Amino acid sequence: MDLKEEIKRLKQKLDVTVVAHFYQKDEVFELADIVGDSLELARKASQTNSEYIVFCGVGFMGQSVKIIAPEKRVLMSKVACCSMARMIDVAYFDENLAKLNSYGIKNEDILPITYINSSAEVKARVGQMGGLVCTSSNAFKIIEQGLKSGKKIFFVPDRCLGQNFAIKMGLKSCVLGDGTNPNDADIICYDGFCAVHQLFTPEDIDFYRSKYPGIIVAVHPECDVKVVEKADFVGSTSQLIQYIKSLPEDQKVVVGTEYNMVNRLREKNTYILSSTKPECPTMNETTLQDLYDTLKSIEDGKPTNEVFVSEDVVHWAKIALQRMFEIS
Ligand code: 13P
Ligand code: SF4
Repeated sequence: MDLKEEIKRLKQKLDVTVVAHFYQKDEVFELADIVGDSLELARKASQTNSEYIVFCGVGFMGQSVKIIAPEKRVLMSKVACCSMARMIDVAYFDENLAKLNSYGIKNEDILPITYINSSAEVKARVGQMGGLVCTSSNAFKIIEQGLKSGKKIFFVPDRCLGQNFAIKMGLKSCVLGDGTNPNDADIICYDGFCAVHQLFTPEDIDFYRSKYPGIIVAVHPECDVKVVEKADFVGSTSQLIQYIKSLPEDQKVVVGTEYNMVNRLREKNTYILSSTKPECPTMNETTLQDLYDTLKSIEDGKPTNEVFVSEDVVHWAKIALQRMFEIS
């Protein structure tokens, strides 16, 4: 059986939209109807007319579509969870709030902002507290708006994103538990991170700059502060693609983000900012066979890997997401 042909046949026959993040393997990515960064996927997938969304990505992405458009049936072609999103749950969130309280910072003086890479339950908790969601492409605007509340921002779960945007905005930040008094910070970050983006180091940048003078360094804001400080361009996956494609063909560029995306960017003069292949293990779990099996399960009337989010979680998580959409 030719899997690709079968997938195309099923896509034509069924009331389905296949959605893929840029980090998906090429063979899966090529068959998607919608591709994009986290923000674009949440927005575009929830606006389609299809009854079914088959999501090739990680769990929080499928959940976001289900939260925005609960009437849709969202299936994950593989049940895969972003390891950063798993670093925080509601219990950890509340434990960290209690730590902030122990420094004399009251809940009513805290505005939580969660990176979209978090569970529906964490988003709901944030929404309940008056907070909102951000993605790597709109974090600046969201934090800027959040600061207008006059409250301290509690940023979860990615400490790097929180710290990088604090620096960009001339704000003080700290990581809760690093020994700094959070009263001295404008943005207090939870101690989560992306293991894939931690692979990139300032030494990697030095190496490429000395090997190829004039090379441009472009990285994702999930990279460590020391890497972002040395980079020429910082952006979400979509922003990186747009920027790199706008460069003259002979301009060398080295990129600090996931391998699959960087590999398909340009034919020449594009390098990966690490000697270790930076593949996201969970994004890479989805295969062509998984995509086929999921579509076939719809044809057989027994949909698999369906995303379900309870009504009360949808209610508050949707509020947190809608607050983000109103701003960006
Ligand atoms: P983007 O929103 O930039 O696509 O990032 C998602 C992600 O998980 C990056 O590691
Ligand atoms: Fe999560 Fe990192 Fe993979 Fe992005 S690259 S999905 S943040 S583990």
